Amino acid sequence: MQTSALKIQIIIGSTREGRAGEKVGQWVKKLAETRRDFTSEYIDLKDWALPFLTDPMPPSMGKYASEFTRRWSKKISGADGYIFVTPEYNHGYSAVLKNALDHVYQEWNNKPAAFVSYGGGAGGARAVEQLRQVAVELQMAPIREQVAIPIIWEAFDEGGMLKDAAGHKKKAENMFNQLVWWARALKAARENDRNV
Ligand SMILES: Cc1cc2nc3c(=O)[nH]c(=O)nc-3n(C[C@H](O)[C@H](O)[C@H](O)COP(=O)(O)O)c2cc1C
Repeated sequence: MQTSALKIQIIIGSTREGRAGEKVGQWVKKLAETRRDFTSEYIDLKDWALPFLTDPMPPSMGKYASEFTRRWSKKISGADGYIFVTPEYNHGYSAVLKNALDHVYQEWNNKPAAFVSYGGGAGGARAVEQLRQVAVELQMAPIREQVAIPIIWEAFDEGGMLKDAAGHKKKAENMFNQLVWWARALKAARENDRNV
């Protein structure tokens, strides 16, 4: 079934002064821009500055109490899939990312989620394991292929280039391929739902 162009959002899950997240996010963005099978949008949670969740339940799409949630809802609902770029903080993912996830619900539903993580020896893998559980509750389809960059403080050279670019690029391409497969399938299914 033919579907319209896929839109993938790359969501940067760290906001700390001097963060590595921006370098990793920019690397993902540049690779994503070489793809012809989707368009990408870079979303830096630092630019969003969502407050901790204050909205009353139930969070119903289009009926949010606060202006920032309405803006966030509009932004997130425009995508067909997501790539979460996450640090690992104390064996979990960042609080700012959890807060951003919790602000809306239906907007994430029936869309695929991919993960790029970084950290110490485990490359942020423990953070992604937690994110996968949360993604399922948000009715996303977490895909298998992921990128994990270990020892992040040594991963980029002085010019800001990823040292093991070839190895990580191969992983990223595999991740993009799976993400596109799921994004296409789920977009067709969502469009089919609207037509019945
Ligand atoms: C609060 C905090 C907790 C951390 N805990 C872990 C951890 O559990 N595992 C790990 O591999 N790295 C950990 N690190 C190191 C981070 O992986 C590293 O600092 C990374 O650059 C954080 O991402 P960011 O720079 O985008 O904030 C921690 C860093 C911070 C700031």
